[in-house]
Amino acid sequence: MKNISLNIDKALGLITKEQVYAQEGKVKECNQLLETGKGAGNDFLGWMHLPSSITEAELADIENTANVLRSKCDIVVAIGIGGSYLGTKAVVEALNNSFDMLLSDRKNPILLYAGQNIGEDYLYELTEVLKGKQFGLINISKSGTTTEPALAFRMLKKQLEDAVGKEEAKHRIVAITDAKRGALRTLADQEGYKTFVIPDNVGGRFSVLTPVGLLPIAVAGINIRDLVAGAVSMEKVTGSDVPLTENIAGLYAAARNELYKGGKKIEILANFHPKLHYIAEWWKQLYGESEGKDGKGIFPASVDLTTDLHSMGQWIQDGERTIFETVISVEKPDHKVVVPTDEANLDGLNFLAGKRVDEVNKMAELGTQLAHVDGGVPNLKITMPEVNAYYIGQLFYFFERGCGISGYMLGVNPFDQPGVEDYKRNMFALLNKPGYEKETEAIKARL
Ligand code: PA5
Repeated sequence: MKNISLNIDKALGLITKEQVYAQEGKVKECNQLLETGKGAGNDFLGWMHLPSSITEAELADIENTANVLRSKCDIVVAIGIGGSYLGTKAVVEALNNSFDMLLSDRKNPILLYAGQNIGEDYLYELTEVLKGKQFGLINISKSGTTTEPALAFRMLKKQLEDAVGKEEAKHRIVAITDAKRGALRTLADQEGYKTFVIPDNVGGRFSVLTPVGLLPIAVAGINIRDLVAGAVSMEKVTGSDVPLTENIAGLYAAARNELYKGGKKIEILANFHPKLHYIAEWWKQLYGESEGKDGKGIFPASVDLTTDLHSMGQWIQDGERTIFETVISVEKPDHKVVVPTDEANLDGLNFLAGKRVDEVNKMAELGTQLAHVDGGVPNLKITMPEVNAYYIGQLFYFFERGCGISGYMLGVNPFDQPGVEDYKRNMFALLNKPGYEKETEAIKARL
């Protein structure tokens, strides 16, 4: 089995290979901080050995629970936000048929999402579409107190109970939350729901390989064992004992930190495979929340190519030179589609006749890489042999390990997110939440 790989050759120019490899000692030191648990945020390192420590019994419990939901429901709504949402969405979008909902021979329940926004129209349309359908709910919140999913769950729980009765609803609701704390834990225990625990030492954005991601992904019919196996394989080759020449997580951390020091403040994660859109969304949370603090941190952005070359291409090619690009390049698509010959050739495309669509895409990718490098955009290239659960598992672990190392290299605690509390405090104050009286008074004075 091949591994995903990283090539930094097209980033050289602004930075040199010597400069990157001179970071080997620093990378090792930071990687060792993760391993020894002596760095900042060391109470959140549970993700490090999650893949290799998941037991057969845990996997079987997740699969059995998924099968219960699959047997009872045509639609399962996964409720969660941030780290309790993006990993699932990333895997399901990458691996399910793009037109899944329209397939007449579908074997899996449709997975829908809620609690990832507070859109009234979104919730209205969701509750409308669920009317008369057999549905179930997976309510995911590590803290168990996040407003967006709690609000969505309150509505959907009522709808489900009204539709099938309280007793049957219990068998269609699964809660994934903290072992002891939070409103969701209290509610789940009181109602008698099946629950899964998010370990204390795993932060939301690092939780995709816990039941947070694994249960809804299994409901969608995806092999979670392959996902875990991919992550296990990456865990083995990203340790501090692996030299930088072979350690892609360390190399990624070193290269992006050197680029940052050279003035590249924005990293654009690009793909030429539209099904990877949500992998980038997951990655943005991982790196944004982990590194954006203390006035520091690369801003993580993303584009889907070639789509966004027709909207963002001008800026990337020619705008302020503060960006670098990390491209996820997929070697082999799942399917083969060949461009047909057209006798009239009115569209002038016969020069492509007989070629695979992927060849056209690959030439677009190569052409874009060369153009962007010419335009002063250093390029890091991650190659994924194909888009399957195993390689997505590798990608997840590679990015997580790279993030831990990179955050320590930057000099921040990559495992906290104090900044995300500020909007909540203001929102609660504005909504007159009990306990926020002082904040309410203060915020009203500012309006
Ligand atoms: O990284 C984090 O911890 C957060 O962004 C969470 O993922 C997000 O806020 C959801 O939190 P919870 O799972 O506690 O509802």
